[in-house]
Amino acid sequence: MTRAASSRSARSSASSSSSSSSSSSSSSSHGAADSGGYLAVSPCASLRGVVPIAGAKNAVLALLAGALACGDEVVLRDVPIGLADVRAMIDVLRSVGARVDVGGEDANTANTPSSGVVVVHARAEDLRASPSADAVAKLRASFFAAGPILARAGRVSMPLPGGCAIGARPVDLHLDGFRALGAVVEVTSRGVVEARAIARDGKLRGAGTHVMRFPSVGATHAIVMAASLAVGDTTIVNAAAEPEIEDLAAMLNASGAKIRGAGTSVITIEGVGVAGSGEKGDGGGGGTGRGGLGGCAHDAIPDRIEAGTMLVVAACVGSTLTLSPVIPEHMTATTALLIDAGCSIDVGDEVGGESKSKSKSNSNSNSTSRRRSMTITPPPRGGLRAVDFTTAPYPGVPTDMQPQLCVLNACAEGVAIVRETVFESRWSHVPELRRMGVECDFVDADGDDAVANANANANANAGRSLRIVGVGARGLRRADVRGSDLRASAALIVAGLAVMAPMGDGDGDGDGEAQGPTRVAGLAHLDRGYEGLDAKLRGVGADVERRPVPPRK
Ligand code: EPZ
Repeated sequence: MTRAASSRSARSSASSSSSSSSSSSSSSSHGAADSGGYLAVSPCASLRGVVPIAGAKNAVLALLAGALACGDEVVLRDVPIGLADVRAMIDVLRSVGARVDVGGEDANTANTPSSGVVVVHARAEDLRASPSADAVAKLRASFFAAGPILARAGRVSMPLPGGCAIGARPVDLHLDGFRALGAVVEVTSRGVVEARAIARDGKLRGAGTHVMRFPSVGATHAIVMAASLAVGDTTIVNAAAEPEIEDLAAMLNASGAKIRGAGTSVITIEGVGVAGSGEKGDGGGGGTGRGGLGGCAHDAIPDRIEAGTMLVVAACVGSTLTLSPVIPEHMTATTALLIDAGCSIDVGDEVGGESKSKSKSNSNSNSTSRRRSMTITPPPRGGLRAVDFTTAPYPGVPTDMQPQLCVLNACAEGVAIVRETVFESRWSHVPELRRMGVECDFVDADGDDAVANANANANANAGRSLRIVGVGARGLRRADVRGSDLRASAALIVAGLAVMAPMGDGDGDGDGEAQGPTRVAGLAHLDRGYEGLDAKLRGVGADVERRPVPPRK
């Protein structure tokens, strides 16, 4: 299936401008997250060209936290530094004493696609055990930092990250992991996690075999980072196998850690101790020989969810589009669904790859060699087939693609059943899709009326299913819609591009009358995880405009 992609360099294609996004407060306080601005998304007849894919937000957040486990400089490249979440994590690192230098192509807002370079140096003597509550409150993933801080400082004091629109999101699995590594952990009445290594030398101890109840991504990150600095070995069973875990392990191993099996459900970690512990530290790789980890230069993997979102854009608009760089094997569940829906997917060389591999000469990340371009060729508009799917931990269908794939089914011919099993309330896009003319109702897995059944059992929404009746050639109807979380916002932009409804009859009765483009509010959510999405879409021919003021009613 390989065919060489076009040679035009991906990054130069995305020109951007327009007003800066608001500072995002991410998941924990989602009410305040809305900047009032919106995206005006016009129905899109066709797209063409190459979309540049940024470094993965969810890998970069873990890599930044992972740099706290390292005693020397960590140089991270392909960091989407315009993202609100990335900036929030940098604030967390700085609040515990790490020096963080942000460089790279003029990336000062979420509207400017960037491939930034971030240099982190968390010296032991500067490291503090309690990050600022303000910084933590901005970002749920800040809890990733708890593991390395606990391991290096022997204790950590950190507010519990709140829940968000998609679920309660507890951290019990993280805390279980810390206890297994020899820490005493309590959660105070003020909702602060206080953890401290029990051993007299203040160091964590290998957990032996630690079985996780659920393959949580965040908990696996936290345990891998902490166990890397423990004295002794740890084997995590039923670990999360997401590519972001593998990328974190690659960075830590390049800094002297001894992690095997990342990217699978069984990860073994030979702890190297903490610098100065006098404990085992053989100075391998970036190791210091005195225990602890050194530093490295590392390229973040491309964002498989941003890439998946762009594939769905192309499929719903019915246009051929190329994305670069991507790592195809990270996206198999999503591309398999798109192929079932009637699209073809071709893999080619990374666009502009040769110049990049030269610049990444001293990269020690093993992902660089696996980068490719991906070209999707969908059926003509209205020709998509509906596809059932169930979300699941990697390598299953990513929950972060669920809302976008709901839009794919909304644009298809036929009926699909979509089941969400990872987050209990990741459905905020549903009422908005109904406003765009999509018939979708909750049913339980067997298709019966779930609401009645759901109320009967405790976990009302676990494994909830949505039945979507695709509009096919009839097309979606424009509407004023609001994204209440990151992926829902992206899905509604896809839906806006896929609107095919004629521009109304002007009788002003509001039934989808085409008063212009679909207006998608809730941009602060979007800016947390998509860097310059509107600019990238304009780069391939879409008419998408950021407007600062709220849509008129
Ligand atoms: C990561 O969140 C991602 N975030 C999420 O992406 C992604 O949806 C999720 O993994 C699943 O793939 C980042 O990497 C920053 P989990 P995380 O721990 O680590 C339950 C996006 O859109 N759970 O794997 O928080 C939890 O409630 C975001 O980019 C516990 O019960 O996800 C959830 O139902 C959204 N106890 C399930 O596990 C725990 O201690 C999966 O959570 C931890 C998790």
